[in-house]
Amino acid sequence: MNDWISFCGETSRPDVTRACLALDTSARLEFATSADGLRRAVFESAPGELGVIVGPAPDGVSDVNLAAALAHDGNARRVVLATAGVSGSLRSRAARAGVDLVVDFEELGEGPCAEAGRSAADGGPCTLPAAVPLPTSSSRSEGTAPEGSAAPVLVFCSGRGGVGKTSIVAAAAAQATLWGLRVVALDLDLSCGNLYSCFGLTGGFDLARHGVPGEGGTDATRGVCVGGAPSLRVLGPCERPETAELAMPHVGGLLERLSHECDLVLVDTSTTFTDAVAQAAQRSDRLVLVTDTRPGAAAALARMAGLAVRLGVARTRIARLENRTSPRSRMDFALGRAEVGLEAARAFRTFEGGAEVSDLLSSGDALDLAEAGSAFSDSVACVLAQLLAELGRLPPAEGAQQALEADAPGRHRGLLGRLREAR
Ligand SMILES: Nc1ncnc2c1ncn2[C@@H]1O[C@H](COP(=O)(O)OP(=O)(O)OP(=O)(O)O)[C@@H](O)[C@H]1O
Ligand SMILES: [Mg+2]
Repeated sequence: MNDWISFCGETSRPDVTRACLALDTSARLEFATSADGLRRAVFESAPGELGVIVGPAPDGVSDVNLAAALAHDGNARRVVLATAGVSGSLRSRAARAGVDLVVDFEELGEGPCAEAGRSAADGGPCTLPAAVPLPTSSSRSEGTAPEGSAAPVLVFCSGRGGVGKTSIVAAAAAQATLWGLRVVALDLDLSCGNLYSCFGLTGGFDLARHGVPGEGGTDATRGVCVGGAPSLRVLGPCERPETAELAMPHVGGLLERLSHECDLVLVDTSTTFTDAVAQAAQRSDRLVLVTDTRPGAAAALARMAGLAVRLGVARTRIARLENRTSPRSRMDFALGRAEVGLEAARAFRTFEGGAEVSDLLSSGDALDLAEAGSAFSDSVACVLAQLLAELGRLPPAEGAQQALEADAPGRHRGLLGRLREAR
């Protein structure tokens, strides 16, 4: 129980080593050479085998995001973030992300740290005054939230606008509701999102109020219920675009709570990769990168895939989805080619649904769109069923099973229905 692994910049290794020894006098510490390598090593280790220390990372890698991702993966014995100049907001962000401990190099100082170092060298006991334990209720690695108890979080992102994220999230949320799931549709296009309008609502729950004392911060998980579908709730965006910043820091914690209060969380995002989107990506069980068929899709996909991996999202959790394709065309596997880095990712398609899609969604009839069936909504149902099945969360509803079986997404339900009727 004293194997540790770390990733940090070369120059921080001595500090990370000191912090590690201060935590565990008999620690055996190894350094991974990349953030990806660290996550892979922890992922492939036995649960609880490795303690992890994330130190100040080289350019392009956020140490707190990486630590959060490792906490989320849930395989590490303990996830520690060790860095210099720890602020209160970093501590609370790390706590919300399930990081077990934040160690401040500066607070280790000469005295206690040297003491800890000497104690370690002597094999004697040591204390770590600078290590402030965080509330661990959200830490999965300690088993407080048993594996399998949290609802799947599916996050839909894209490298450019108008590819269909909102339409897909709305159709998927409606479909999952029809399958009997309690669904939360979360709009993280905090300034300009319009997911609520797909359900005929005049607004979602204003996320800027979440976390603002005295203004319903504790009630954010309520959301706004969709008329006619009380098990579907819509949260976000922010009522006033300028208040989006207020909501950003709370997204990780909000997602954590939501995932324990419903059966499925579907997240729509902005094209701009904000801090809120980054937190959602890291918390996601599946990060679905959406493209459409317009030229430039590969470049947008490559940008998003690279960013997601740099944020510490495991490639195994990334899927790609090509929207507005034709049932007659073949999947463009070249989109996931090696330089994009998604050649092993699950690839899905949703089909062009014509003007009916925007007509129904803009008039707030997402539920009707799902219920009536169409090339588009059937293909969304099929993708959703496959994602849920992969996560072991496909509901027993007959429609969900059928959607899974129709594994060539987008085979028109009308056609399937007619075939079934003919049997
Ligand atoms: N498969 C589809 N078939 C037909 N129309 C579609 C399809 N997907 C999306 N659309 C339409 O394309 C338009 C843009 O879609 P949508 O708003 O969902 O994209 P978005 O990625 O959320 O955009 P933004 O980045 O601006 O938020 C909408 O009018 C929508 O109805
Ligand atoms: Mg949108």
